[in-house]
Amino acid sequence: MTSNRSDPECFVYITLPGQVSPITAGKFALTKNRSGDALGRFVYGRSYLDNPQAVEIDPVELKLANQTYETVQLGGIFGALRDAGPDYWGRRVIEKHAGKAQLGELDYLLESPDDRAGALGFGLNKAPPAPKRKFNRTMDLEKLQALADALIKDEIPNDPDAPQVQELMRLGTSMGGARPKTVVQDDDGLWVAKFNRDDDKWNNTRVEHAMLRLARECGIATVESRIETIGSKDVLLTKRFDREKVAKGYTRSRMVSGLTILRTDEAVTVRTRWSYVILVEELRRIVADAKKDARELFRRICFNALISNTDDHPRNHAVIARDRTWKLSPAFDLTPVPAVAQERRDLAMECGDMGRYANAKNILSQHARFLLNLDEAKKIVNDMQEQVSRTWYDTVRASGVSKQDAEKIRGAFVYPGFSL
Ligand SMILES: Nc1ncnc2c1ncn2[C@@H]1O[C@H](COP(=O)(O)OP(=O)(O)O)[C@@H](O)[C@H]1O
Ligand SMILES: [Mg+2]
Repeated sequence: MTSNRSDPECFVYITLPGQVSPITAGKFALTKNRSGDALGRFVYGRSYLDNPQAVEIDPVELKLANQTYETVQLGGIFGALRDAGPDYWGRRVIEKHAGKAQLGELDYLLESPDDRAGALGFGLNKAPPAPKRKFNRTMDLEKLQALADALIKDEIPNDPDAPQVQELMRLGTSMGGARPKTVVQDDDGLWVAKFNRDDDKWNNTRVEHAMLRLARECGIATVESRIETIGSKDVLLTKRFDREKVAKGYTRSRMVSGLTILRTDEAVTVRTRWSYVILVEELRRIVADAKKDARELFRRICFNALISNTDDHPRNHAVIARDRTWKLSPAFDLTPVPAVAQERRDLAMECGDMGRYANAKNILSQHARFLLNLDEAKKIVNDMQEQVSRTWYDTVRASGVSKQDAEKIRGAFVYPGFSL
């Protein structure tokens, strides 16, 4: 089914709230406009629009309406569809399977397994396929880690018939992100499994686990996480917050990334829209409880600045809809970066009047947009600064991070420039 597809169209399926099987929501076509630029078109199907249970695919671009949506942004791929596709890591897996790099955008969507984030699916048939029930089990993690290692070391040939490539598909994963990962199942449900890489400077998975714990201690809503140790390797498991195990299978929440909410992508040219200040404005329009989520986002900015998580780009934020309404997803992918700079570190997104500066005054400068008065905002900043300074080391050590690794990341916490 790979590449050279003459018909650049596919059906978009959706699993409605509370359901475990998809139905057809509409049709997506990728063509070119007169100037030769990629042009994406989406229409909801008539029977979908007639379905009283129908929900919008995303709260920004593809509202539930009887019209043809068009986009020339992102190579013609609507943000919500891009979010459902694989990212750097998943693309590598698919390229190996297809036997070549740089497939068409539609190929990535169609070739990717159905473990994708959110409630969407893609296929060439009008009727969606039955959901696959088979997921890797947590006990397969050792094999999966070995496959991920082989892919990183480029030991896997670009040959669809090679046994390792067949095996590689077991890694699956349409989940986004650049780090090696897969999806596994246990009796509680589905988990994203993130692996360490041999070239990591410290035990990343343990450190990420510790950061989730530290964030929880700072009052932030985070994904549930645990570590599985396979031989000498630690794997981070985070519970899928867009899936819920029920008797008949898995229900799915819709999910769109911060990139989609900001109508942007990763290209450097559109990073002017990478902004928490814009994000919170958009968020307040989208979510059911604006006050709650705006304040929560403020906490997350503050936390990212305090742990020097400068990889807090818009794809590391999301909104989800379990039922009909949207809310901010739990926090995920929190990583400390012990940069050398002591006076100024920048977050990935603008966070105040002084741009991306990870600094208390800067963060406080736009407090009103986060629906906080200045005193409330100051209290959050001061309390969190005090909490992170006082507890980061113990929390990190209690999460199983070694003494050596704790020293390696020490410089990430409450760097001097935060309170300049
Ligand atoms: N527990 C989870 N439940 C649902 N989706 C998740 C979960 N963790 C991550 N994701 C999704 O997978 C993507 C990649 O995960 P992330 O932890 O950000 O990996 P990376 O470190 O490779 O960026 C995220 O952008 C998000 O869309
Ligand atoms: Mg990420």
